[in-house]
Amino acid sequence: MAETFCIAFVVVGLVGFVLGSILYHFLPLFLHFGTLPKGNFGWPFLGETLSFLKPHSSTSTGPFIQDHISRYGKVFKSHLFFSPTVVSCDEELNYYILQNEDRLFQCSYPKPIHGILGKRSMLVAVGDTHKRLRSMALSLVTTMKSKPEFLNDIETNATQILDSWKDDHKKLIIFCEEARKYTFNVIVKQVLGLTPEEPHTKEILKDFLTFMKGLISLPLNIPGTPYSKAVQARYRISSTVKAIIEERRRRNAQDCSKKMLQGDFLELLLCNDTLSEDEKVSFVLDSLLGGYETTSLLLAMVLFFITQTPSAVDQLKVEHEKIRSMKKAKEFLNWDDYRNMEFTQCVMNEALRCGNIVKFVHRKAIKDVKFRDYTIPSGWKVLPVFTAVHLDPSLHTKALQFNPWRWQTQDQTCKKFTPFGGGSRCCPGFELAKLEVAFFIHHLIQTYRWKVEDDDEQPMAHPYVEFQRGLKLSVECC
Ligand code: HEM
Repeated sequence: MAETFCIAFVVVGLVGFVLGSILYHFLPLFLHFGTLPKGNFGWPFLGETLSFLKPHSSTSTGPFIQDHISRYGKVFKSHLFFSPTVVSCDEELNYYILQNEDRLFQCSYPKPIHGILGKRSMLVAVGDTHKRLRSMALSLVTTMKSKPEFLNDIETNATQILDSWKDDHKKLIIFCEEARKYTFNVIVKQVLGLTPEEPHTKEILKDFLTFMKGLISLPLNIPGTPYSKAVQARYRISSTVKAIIEERRRRNAQDCSKKMLQGDFLELLLCNDTLSEDEKVSFVLDSLLGGYETTSLLLAMVLFFITQTPSAVDQLKVEHEKIRSMKKAKEFLNWDDYRNMEFTQCVMNEALRCGNIVKFVHRKAIKDVKFRDYTIPSGWKVLPVFTAVHLDPSLHTKALQFNPWRWQTQDQTCKKFTPFGGGSRCCPGFELAKLEVAFFIHHLIQTYRWKVEDDDEQPMAHPYVEFQRGLKLSVECC
């Protein structure tokens, strides 16, 4: 009797749970006023998340977006990342979302990401905390621009990597690994003043790789899982960064007014009294995270696309040989040289448009928002999908074709091109990233010829972007 009662109790409980969950899943469809965009909520719990995240070439919008646009139009509702969602593939709405940060929409990354990045990370912070962290990031870029040594370090790092390919056994290289080595060494030097040989650099790189793996793993904080290892790795990086900060403090008795004028970026960070110690550590992590993988991917994308476009390689060669011919032997590149790399800028823009390093960003509506004929209810997730706009054939002629020459007439600050996001969260590191890539290309193009080994190599959006086999190249000196 007691057993039957128990079973009945469990069954009723289960049915209640399932019905409750289904109700909870679909309730947002009824609890709002105004017209929702068309679309489909998919399965209870997961909604359409798995199809949305299904890997596809990052040079295409992928079957999920294609299918949904053709069925519902460029703005549709769905249920993604456990939340009712409006997905926007519309250039006007994307722009509106980005420009109305903190007024109508707010940055809203999934909770497990907060667990790894920490609540002081600029990538997840909102309001005043975000403003304070962001102004620090902007001063990193300003400092970098104002000091030739920063640019010289970038170039030295590029030539060191390229020189290491000259040994015979290095003729076959995994380009993505080399690109990562380069961008990691650059950002660690720029932010912490460390060279690749220093033990702290190696420690940070090791932990950072674990940290990155956790960011894209299942968020299970159980010992041994990639997620839990990432949380631990973040803790270790924080300790290493704190130790570096302490070391620097001991070495230099602080005179911040003077140091601000003379010192490197770490000194600027140390002298900043608007940020707490934890925020300073988070800032370093954000810079590593923002500046490492994305920039190395841009470099790989440029290489991937120009390899298929020999006339672009020829034109790049002419541009860079001209810049070099106006300099003394071994003279470092400067900002003016970078600005004169006009065709290189076109190539980078086109690689960003076609390669789509960041497919979409996470936002939520903080008020009911009326846009055209429909309402986006307060609390709903909102995903502006940049890839869909970058590859929209109604906005870009022959949108799927890599054509850097289009940028000789097209404005790169337009609404239909947002590889670095926009509004008050627009990427603060975009110029640093482009400069790094341009300097590397400057030396690569004048030193080597190369061939991609795997004909079917593709950048895949998981949605984090990755070359399946790391872009294997055979290289030889020209
Ligand atoms: C090709 C390279 C890069 C790409 C494609 C890229 C892309 C982006 C995008 C799309 C955002 C906006 C995220 C959002 O709105 O939620 C962003 C923000 C950010 N990026 Fe980048 N980024 C690149 C390089 C860099 C570099 C080199 C750094 C650092 C030195 C950096 C640091 C950051 C930071 C700190 C943010 C957060 C800004 C904020 O929330 O105010 N990024 N990036």
